[in-house]
Amino acid sequence: MINVYEPHEWKHGTVVAGVPWKNPVGTASGTFQLAAVRDYYDVSQMGAISTKGVSPIPWEGNPSPRCAESPAANVNAVGLQNPGVDHYLVDDLPKLKAMGATVITNVAGHSDDDYAQVVTKLASHASDMLEINVSCPNVSHGGMSVGTDPVALYKLIAHLRTLTDKPMIVKLSPNVTDIVSVAKAAVDGGADALSMINTLVGMRFDTRTGKPIIANRTGGVSGPALLPIALGFVWRVRQALPDIPIIGIGGVDSGLKALEFLYAGANAVEVGSAALFDPIAPLRIARELDDLLDTRPQLANLLAEGKTWK
Ligand SMILES: Cc1cc2nc3c(=O)[nH]c(=O)nc-3n(C[C@H](O)[C@H](O)[C@H](O)COP(=O)(O)O)c2cc1C
Repeated sequence: MINVYEPHEWKHGTVVAGVPWKNPVGTASGTFQLAAVRDYYDVSQMGAISTKGVSPIPWEGNPSPRCAESPAANVNAVGLQNPGVDHYLVDDLPKLKAMGATVITNVAGHSDDDYAQVVTKLASHASDMLEINVSCPNVSHGGMSVGTDPVALYKLIAHLRTLTDKPMIVKLSPNVTDIVSVAKAAVDGGADALSMINTLVGMRFDTRTGKPIIANRTGGVSGPALLPIALGFVWRVRQALPDIPIIGIGGVDSGLKALEFLYAGANAVEVGSAALFDPIAPLRIARELDDLLDTRPQLANLLAEGKTWK
């Protein structure tokens, strides 16, 4: 059993879209809150911290109940609640940077203009990377998420590309029939990296009332059940796009599962729901992976150079 409170020298760092990460493990957006974890671990020790999605103005999110939990699959419809980009720029971002974290700012929008406003404001601030969450319902696209339509996605990312020089990760939705065409559209539009996957659409029912548990009815499924699905997505995109950096997300709750993503062709992983059950999980997983890579020098050397297993 690893003691994450002991000092540790990272042995196996990586580089994602030109940005050095101390180790290939980050936190996944929406499952990390600085106030909740700062007393548990040193956030500068993570490969990167992906923040909650940031929108142009404060969003209240969805009505409660917002979550239906189970060990294998969590369903949530938080609805991208956040205090808005202006608050983020004077609160979370400076605090995270002062603590030495490598910061990925996750960007949310309900229209193409929302995304453009946030990316413009972030362009001159200290985030190390941007992660564009294209799974949000989008009024510019009839309420559908822009991440399900390659043509709309290409247009959005090409426009955002003109607004920032920061490394831009596009976070893909799994709620599509052809992930490769969506991934290619994001890369053609100017994405420097891809992260995948966001949550799958799902539901749970209350067997006493016969009604959906979540007020929003449907929500996003996350947690261990996502692992094989997310690995399949990463692998298919890696086969089609051999050079684009990929961050694998979905069901990572151990160093071994993180390792599976690296063998599927990911450059790094982000840990989501595991942190909702165990706040220190992201750091524990990073430490487990650091030891697992000791005995896999070929993979470790590729990662150190920003390359991937093929
Ligand atoms: C409560 C909750 C909130 C989330 N909020 C965001 C968000 O704001 N932006 C985003 O891109 N993804 C968000 N996600 C998706 C996660 O970052 C991740 O892609 C997904 O949960 C799958 O990973 P996991 O199985 O490790 O949880 C959220 C997930 C959960 C469970």
